[in-house]
Parts: sequence; C-alpha cells; structure tokens
Amino acid sequence: MQRVTHEAPVTVAARGAARLTAGHPWVYRSDVQRLPAHPGFAPVLDPAGRPLGWAAVHPTSQIAVRLLHRHDEPVTEALLLARLAAALDWRAALARDPETHMGGASGYRLVHAEADGLPGLVVDRLGPVLVLQNGCAALEPHLEAFVTMLAERLAPEGVLGRLDARVREREGLPREQRVLAGSVPEEVEVSDGLLTWTARPREGQKTGGFLDQRLNHRRLARFARGAALDVFAYQGGFGLHLLRAGASSVELVDSSAAALAAAERAAAANGLPTPRLTRADAFARLRELDRAGARFDVIALDPPALAKRARDLPRALAGYKELNLRAMRLLRPGGVLGSASCSAHLQEAEFLNVLADAAADAGRTLHVLGRFGAAPDHPERLGFPESAYLKFVLLRAP
Ligand SMILES: C[S@@+](CC[C@H](N)C(=O)[O-])C[C@H]1O[C@@H](n2cnc3c(N)ncnc32)[C@H](O)[C@@H]1O
Repeated sequence: MQRVTHEAPVTVAARGAARLTAGHPWVYRSDVQRLPAHPGFAPVLDPAGRPLGWAAVHPTSQIAVRLLHRHDEPVTEALLLARLAAALDWRAALARDPETHMGGASGYRLVHAEADGLPGLVVDRLGPVLVLQNGCAALEPHLEAFVTMLAERLAPEGVLGRLDARVREREGLPREQRVLAGSVPEEVEVSDGLLTWTARPREGQKTGGFLDQRLNHRRLARFARGAALDVFAYQGGFGLHLLRAGASSVELVDSSAAALAAAERAAAANGLPTPRLTRADAFARLRELDRAGARFDVIALDPPALAKRARDLPRALAGYKELNLRAMRLLRPGGVLGSASCSAHLQEAEFLNVLADAAADAGRTLHVLGRFGAAPDHPERLGFPESAYLKFVLLRAP
C-alpha cells in the first residue's frame, strides 16, 4: 500500500479556523498562518495551537487546506479507500431506490469530491467506462489504488483519467488524459433509463455529459405538450425528453455544433421526431424569437455557470435575468419554464430573486411548481454551498 505524504502541522488564521468549525472543508491560502512545504496530508491547528483535524494541504494552491476529518488520526490510504468504498456503497443503495431512476441508468456520478469526503476527486460512470478527474495534489499518488478498487468492484471496460482540467495547474499537477485501466472507446452508449445518448469520454463537456440534470429532464417532461424550446441544450437532455413525453416539436439551441449533431443522432436512435437545431448564441436567439413573436408551451433554460468566480456575480446576475426575462416572454399562458443555474457562487434564494425580477420586468405572474437540485448521485454536503451548485426551478405561467 502506497505511503501517504505527511506534512508538518499547518496553522490556520482565526478566520480559517472559524470556517472549518462552521463545517466548511476549505481554508484559502490568505487564511493560513503557516503553509506546508509540499502537497500532502497534515494536521491542522488553530492560531492557539489547538488541533482542528487532518487535511489535504498545498503550499501554493488558492485552496490551501481541504479538511478530511475532525479528529487527530493521520490520514492513511486505507482511510481514503474506505471513503471510496462508502461512496460506491451509497450509489448501490441509491440505485435500489426507484425514485432515483438510477437502477435502469448507465450514466451517473460515483464520487462527488468533497461531498463524498474525497477532495477534488470525481468519478462518473458513462455506460461501460468510468471517467475520473482529480484536482487535489495530495490525492494524486493514490489514484492507482482508487482505480484498482473501482476495477474490482465495478468491472468497467476501462477507466479514463480526464486529468486535463485547468484547475490542476493551480495544484501543480500536469494536464493530461490517460487510460488508467482496461480500454476506453472513443464513443460509448449511455442510458438515463429512458433514453440513450452517445458520449465521447475524451472530448465531451465535463466528463462527457451533464449527469446532474438526469431527474430534472424527467421533471420538466411531465409538462410536455405543444411547442418546446431547449436553450443551452447540449445533446438535448431536456428537449428529447420533452419530445418523448409528447411535445409536438422542439427547437434545440446551443453554440456547440458537435453537441447539436449528437442530439440529432440521439433523437433518431431513440425513435423520436427530428428536433430543429439552432447553432447560435442563446442570448441572441432568444431576442430573435421574441422579435419574431414566437411562443412556446415548455421551455428549458440551462446556461453554463455564468459566475465562475465570486467576482463575476454582479455580471452573472444580469445575464441570468436577461435570459429568464426573454424566456418568460416567450411562454404561452399555461406554459412551463424549467430554469437552471449551475453557478456555485449563486445561492438558491438569490436565484429566486433574479427570477422574480425577471418575471416583474416581463410583466408575467408565475407559479413555482418546484425547486430542485442535482440528482442524488451528486450529493450536497451541508455547510459546503459549493456542492449545492445546481438549482432548477419549475415555473408555470397561469
Ligand atoms: C449546462 S450545459 C447544458 C446541459 C444540457 N441542458 C443538459 O441537460 O444536458 C450548457 C450548454 O450551453 C452551451 N453554451 C455555452 N455558451 C453558450 C451560448 N452563449 N449560447 C448558446 N449555447 C451556449 C454549451 O455548449 C453547453 O452545451
């Protein structure tokens, strides 16, 4: 078993200690008094020298401390593997619950980083293969052990390391893609239990798909009828479910030609009518549709994170308002809008305020049919708002 790198204790400032005590697992570099010399695992002390637990630590990353537990047992590889096993056990339990619709699905998240107690580590199942991402240098020496356990427990055809995200640079990690076990085809079939898509694990956005919206696709589809519009459609997750559930037509809007082509292929493969594909900037297309007097019975609005950093928030709020205002104007009486935000910096209450502002400016009264988050295979860790990044609100125009 791999030896774990243990660093000298790291002392956090009072603000960092308060954050950890309140349940948040991260301390930023600016709130650390004594940084470690190397990435690894270390005990964390408050300014008075009292122990706060053990963490993955980094000398130069913005996130200097990622707490693993609150007692004084050193972190071992056995502990990390126990966390991985617990994450897999929980997914197996979720798959037995019919409400998760995971039982018949072959695309879902197996490990959701901090929310599964494994900072920076994400593992998704995409049909026959697993896709792994890691953004925490302290965990990097243990990837092989993780892959061995994943292969033993799940027997995938292969495990792809998508070790190419930009966040890895902040941890001093190389950006690369590597097959970590078995073989990984260019394309794989992924089912959400109702529909099947082709995912390209090496190229697709995120690890190859937006698995977190799995249940929200079904939630909006309950209101399928008439003309539907899926804005920021990617491979048509919302739009194809709307067609399947009885919408007579759907327009998919996305800036990615490859995503729209995959949506078209998926529609054909699932025996659905051909969607209208619009490769365009979504802001411009919404304005154009409004000017042309187009109206829809169901609309999905699922932009990329408009606030990637906290300082982007004011501009992002204006963007969310503009998109929602336009979408609300396009909604027929009795129509339903499914509006999402995946900005971790935007809390649900603030998102609801933006939606209310947009409705006021659009001159529409809307009812909230439901507020949702990511599918439960993407668990939300209480006290860690970053894990509650996805908000999905269903609104009906009476
Ligand atoms: C969060 S994903 C959408 C996921 C999709 N709704 C689903 O459920 O699978 C955001 C999508 O927006 C697209 N996109 C990003 N900026 C865009 C823009 N300005 N106009 C149109 N599409 C854009 C991306 O290509 C990506 O497919």
